[in-house]
Amino acid sequence: MTTLIIAVGSPESNQRWADVFAQLAPKWQIVCWDQVGHTVEADFAVVWRPSIQLFKDQPRLQAIFNIGAGVDGIDFTQVPDSVPVYRVEDAGMAVQMAEYAVYGAMLATQRFMPYVDQQYDKKWEQQEPIYKTEWPVGVMGYGKIGEKVAQTLQLLGYPVSVWVRSERPSPDGMDLFFGSRSLPSFLEQSRILINVLPLTDETRGIVNNTLLAQLPPQSFFINMARGPHVVDEDLLAAIDHGHLSGALLDVFHVEPLPQDHPFWTHPAIHVTPHISGVSLREPTAQQIQAKIQLFLQNQPVSGLVERERMY
Ligand code: GLV
Repeated sequence: MTTLIIAVGSPESNQRWADVFAQLAPKWQIVCWDQVGHTVEADFAVVWRPSIQLFKDQPRLQAIFNIGAGVDGIDFTQVPDSVPVYRVEDAGMAVQMAEYAVYGAMLATQRFMPYVDQQYDKKWEQQEPIYKTEWPVGVMGYGKIGEKVAQTLQLLGYPVSVWVRSERPSPDGMDLFFGSRSLPSFLEQSRILINVLPLTDETRGIVNNTLLAQLPPQSFFINMARGPHVVDEDLLAAIDHGHLSGALLDVFHVEPLPQDHPFWTHPAIHVTPHISGVSLREPTAQQIQAKIQLFLQNQPVSGLVERERMY
């Protein structure tokens, strides 16, 4: 019998995911790590930011499935090389993140913001229109999520560029920049900069003074990737010096964002609690179940994490 162990968070959360898998795969044994620990040896683990104790308790895992897109919460030094790790691919997350990016673009351009105050004052006044050509968007990262984000903004009429690690064909109607040498040209035309990069040794701290200084004046930054991509003091300084008009931030070095962090109260910074793309249980579990089935049939399984790249 196939045994699946769930280790995605609190006991309640594990149970909710276990219930969904039990419905989808009634023939499998589904157990929660908080309940069984090492007493049941599972074939597959479904994880989110797992404790290293999981890998000690579960020496017979054949594969690990991460319910999120980012795998930086997994300590790969604890996972034997022979055990592949797969991450979820979209499963309803990309469209949420595209929507979040649109929300950020609305904050950047102030397209609708003035009307909130105007309604309060019962004031009927049409603001000057926004010209999208004045708001070119740059998307850093172009996996399943970056693709949906970029395409959605393009559909709304924003000029969109993307920046990726290595060369590949340009997406339709977008400029593609790759590698560190082309980063300056990408940045100088990104008035709305959106970060959807994976967190790796190369990308940690990438949003720093040097990067921010290359953005055009009055740019806006949207972070929906990971907090450690950003040097917080540099972002605050760029906003306080008036180079950036503001930021929409969903992810932070420490989560929950500490009560005394200046981001909370900064008038030009919008904070959300890591909700830009949440893993939807049913579609995510369906995708993982299908992947396990392929795995059991020795078929290729997509979403394999390359350890050197960390995505
Ligand atoms: C969320 O942050 C994810 O990586 O899916």
